[in-house]
Amino acid sequence: MRIINLEQSKKKQKVSKLNTFTIDVENGLNLKNKAISSKYFYDDTGSKIFQKITKHPDYYLTRNEIEVLNKIKFKLPTLLKLKEIDIIELGPGDGSKSKIIINGFLKCNYIVNYYPIDISKKALELLNKTIKESNRLKINGIVSEYFEGLRYVKTISQNRQLVLFLGSNIGNFERSESIKFMKKIYNNISNNSYVFAGFDLKKDIRKLNKAYNDSSKLTKKFNLNLLKRINNELQGNFNLKTFIHYGKYNPLLGAMESFLISTEKQQIHLKKLNKSFKFKLFEPIHLEYSFKFSIEDIEKIAFKTGFSIIDNYMNKDKGYLNSLWKK
Ligand SMILES: C[S@@+](CC[C@H](N)C(=O)[O-])C[C@H]1O[C@@H](n2cnc3c(N)ncnc32)[C@H](O)[C@@H]1O
Repeated sequence: MRIINLEQSKKKQKVSKLNTFTIDVENGLNLKNKAISSKYFYDDTGSKIFQKITKHPDYYLTRNEIEVLNKIKFKLPTLLKLKEIDIIELGPGDGSKSKIIINGFLKCNYIVNYYPIDISKKALELLNKTIKESNRLKINGIVSEYFEGLRYVKTISQNRQLVLFLGSNIGNFERSESIKFMKKIYNNISNNSYVFAGFDLKKDIRKLNKAYNDSSKLTKKFNLNLLKRINNELQGNFNLKTFIHYGKYNPLLGAMESFLISTEKQQIHLKKLNKSFKFKLFEPIHLEYSFKFSIEDIEKIAFKTGFSIIDNYMNKDKGYLNSLWKK
């Protein structure tokens, strides 16, 4: 696999990833309701912890989606009726799910050009161990933000495209943002290309709470790692022992939300910025939305972005749905 690091080339142009991170952390900690984007979870340690989360029995999402992928892995290549395809994946993580889809296409005699796009270089390194190139599978990994990567692939892609957006990653966006996001995908792929996205469906809140507050406390570690990352990269002095992880379902939003909550009134300092930030007693930092979907929500997003839904595929307990859309 070749890895193209668009983040590094930005660094050369002095618009470094660290700068974006620095600006976003500063802005986020200055908000009335403090918030930092979940995309910053994925430094090297974060990506490794997430890989463990996906294998944890409480985190049903990965298991449920893998069930769907195994069910439809030969259906997709047959439905698309092509010989060669460019599979572009947004946020593949370690590639365990991607491998199932790609193998389905290869077994159906396709030539596959695979473009995994991930903000985390570590994720692509893990993926490199999961999926191996062959004479019918070429892999070009891209370290970048989703759309920077997609725009790059657009300049080199020569075949019909299938964009994978798995793991219910779309749930990290607020409702209106998810429509804008899918519209952007629509605008950056060629006509008659496809999107195959995973959606975690609305379900028993006890199951949700268990998944996002796993018994091995991996999610807690994953969330706290963001403070560690700030300490490392921005020379901060967050004391991780003074923050607790809090994950809860917001039924009005239809989303799981993750927070870190300061158990003390305190002030933290980021030396790199030469700035301090005050925390009131029990003040939260909002870190993540994981919106949950109804079938109507999914149809609405597809309709509003101009895609046609080709088919929906659910796992056995009907808690997870993958949807195939066409431009
Ligand atoms: C929740 S994980 C899902 C991984 C995999 N798709 C799965 O279903 O298990 C999200 C992945 O997307 C990547 N990611 C998150 N935000 C991103 C962004 N804005 N641009 C590019 N990659 C991003 C992370 O590094 C991580 O590998």
